[in-house]
Amino acid sequence: MTVLGIETSCDETSVALYTDGHLLANVVLYQVIHERYGGVVPEYASRAHMRTLIPTLELALEKSGVGIGEIGGVGVTYGPGLVGSLLVGLNVAKGLSVSLGVPLIGVNHIEGHIFANFIREPGPALPAVCLVVSGGHTQLVLIKTLGEYELLGKTRDDAAGEAFDKVARVLGLGYPGGPAIERAAADGDPNAVDFPKAFLEEGYEFSFSGIKTAVLYHMRELPENERRKHVADVAASFQKAVVDVLVEKSVRAAQETGARSICLAGGVARNRRLRQELERRAQGAGFEVFVPAPEFCTDNAAMIARAAHFYLEQGRTSPLTLGPAPSLNLAA
Ligand code: KG4
Ligand code: ZN
Repeated sequence: MTVLGIETSCDETSVALYTDGHLLANVVLYQVIHERYGGVVPEYASRAHMRTLIPTLELALEKSGVGIGEIGGVGVTYGPGLVGSLLVGLNVAKGLSVSLGVPLIGVNHIEGHIFANFIREPGPALPAVCLVVSGGHTQLVLIKTLGEYELLGKTRDDAAGEAFDKVARVLGLGYPGGPAIERAAADGDPNAVDFPKAFLEEGYEFSFSGIKTAVLYHMRELPENERRKHVADVAASFQKAVVDVLVEKSVRAAQETGARSICLAGGVARNRRLRQELERRAQGAGFEVFVPAPEFCTDNAAMIARAAHFYLEQGRTSPLTLGPAPSLNLAA
């Protein structure tokens, strides 16, 4: 069964084709326009999806070698995300579903990120603790079996990716902030500044707004001619503080829930320090660690096609009345 996946929840336009155990194509078009504004401008995002989704679909079909008549189902992100962006993907998916006479499968974007771990079989051993860290979400999820989750904890304020983006702005590093901070941190000393690590010792909840403010005050207190010199050290120290909290809580969650493995999901999972520290700490504690390839961490349709394939196999499809759900949560 070949499934087409469509992802347009934010600022990546992406189409993928997945068949039993194999990814056939995954085309991701990144919208450069938002860099100029230091963040995603929703109206520009949906307009760009309208221009590029059909050519992206054509390219994905061409790369996969799949004829449009061979598609057995159309999976699409219906939330959470920007309403205008979601609408573009949903309407194209519905049009395809009707014209091809195949089922529509609405996919929760957060669950899609989790499914990135299962694009290459067999994926992490279950039950697994999954740290979902993106621009919009930071949560610890226990994957009991595929499709069945327990939310262990989440952020009380900013998402981890949002903190990277905001701190990058304070440091004048541009957007998106995650990759910019990682690059700057490569030349810095991670022990230069001792930034706060919220709730490090307790529970599974996160908070990243305090560290963002701490970075702002730290920079303000430096004489103006000194600030540039300290950017690498501040970036490295900020990255270390965030990664320490994420890794500590993930390993503790795995120990306390009796999980067999730990996996990562979402754009921040591209961060090399996070990947390496998690591997080091979790393997030391006896857990298998599973990290999706970087291109499956940031938004992509491969993860959506993979999740849709799973639900189609189970016979769980969506009605054509499915609408966008901008604030959708993970069903847990
Ligand atoms: O999952 P994603 O593509 O979109 C959402 O669903 O939010 O995640 C985007 C987020 C952005 O905040 C971006 O700054 C962050 O992921 N990110 C990173 C890295 N690459 C992307 N954060 C830290 N280090 C990175 N290398
Ligand atoms: Zn995402």
